[in-house]
Amino acid sequence: SHKIILDTDPGIDDAMAIFFAFQSPDIDVLGLTTVYGNVPVEMAAQNALTLCEMAGVDIPVCKGVGMPWVGPQSKYAHFVHGNDGFGDVCPEPSKRELDPRSSAQFIVDMARQYPGEITVVAIGPLGNLALALRLEPELPKLLKGVSIMGGAAFVPGNVTPVAEANIWNDAYAAEIVFAADWNLTMFGLDVTMTVPFEPAFLESLRENNAKLGGFVHDAAQFYMDFYSQNREDRVCFFHDAMPIAHLVDPSLFEIVRGHARVSTDPLNIGQTSVAPENTTASPDWLGAQQIDVAVKVDKERLTKLYIDTY
Ligand code: BDR
Ligand code: CA
Repeated sequence: SHKIILDTDPGIDDAMAIFFAFQSPDIDVLGLTTVYGNVPVEMAAQNALTLCEMAGVDIPVCKGVGMPWVGPQSKYAHFVHGNDGFGDVCPEPSKRELDPRSSAQFIVDMARQYPGEITVVAIGPLGNLALALRLEPELPKLLKGVSIMGGAAFVPGNVTPVAEANIWNDAYAAEIVFAADWNLTMFGLDVTMTVPFEPAFLESLRENNAKLGGFVHDAAQFYMDFYSQNREDRVCFFHDAMPIAHLVDPSLFEIVRGHARVSTDPLNIGQTSVAPENTTASPDWLGAQQIDVAVKVDKERLTKLYIDTY
């Protein structure tokens, strides 16, 4: 099975992804590390504890960075995820305690304890991973890989014309993470926006798991309101579950390899630029590292995997 640390800012699609990971027999979640993003970091940490309690899973939950690497405190996404981060469903908060370590320290500690075995799955802004790299420069050698939900390589952004939310929220941290020498796989809007989920999908989750699927179903109503504003149909996007689905079944995805960088220029801050192999684009401009970029997914089989796993 895959040992993972989930670095998260719950968040409605984060909740859906966390429960999917907990329910996957091939995934062993060593802990949840939290970061500001959709909500302030104190709320992200509390929400992660609440999700663990709901699922009956007893693993460490850590609080991480609460602001970007550079620049002012970011804006949160309550208009997407609700005041509580869970579509204003307001579940009973857990009374469990946080692990005393910071998210970055927990990532470093686990990587040292299981060298070469852990994949960090980051589904929020990348400040914790950037900080972990500073605490332990050998981190790339100690981890098996890093999979992120973030970025938009060949499609428009969702915060600016060119930037996706997780990268835009902490572009300097993201650039540090993209520049590190590890196996990085990016699941950006290129692939996450190709799979709109309809109400029937949420009903299937609830049918298969009244408690966890029922919670995702209820929380996602607010999320669907947001995504349905500018379209005829009622849908939402579960961005954050995709990197986990890839660990469970890599055959679902089409991946291209390319040199990638994150812009910190104010004009296009948070843009992820990728020069794929076999194009005329300069392969290693400004020292860009090679990463894997998910560009396509089998929608039918992915949907079935989520439903069967819940
Ligand atoms: C990402 O931003 C957040 O709102 C979601 O949880 C997801 O991680 C999508 O751009
Ligand atoms: Ca997220």
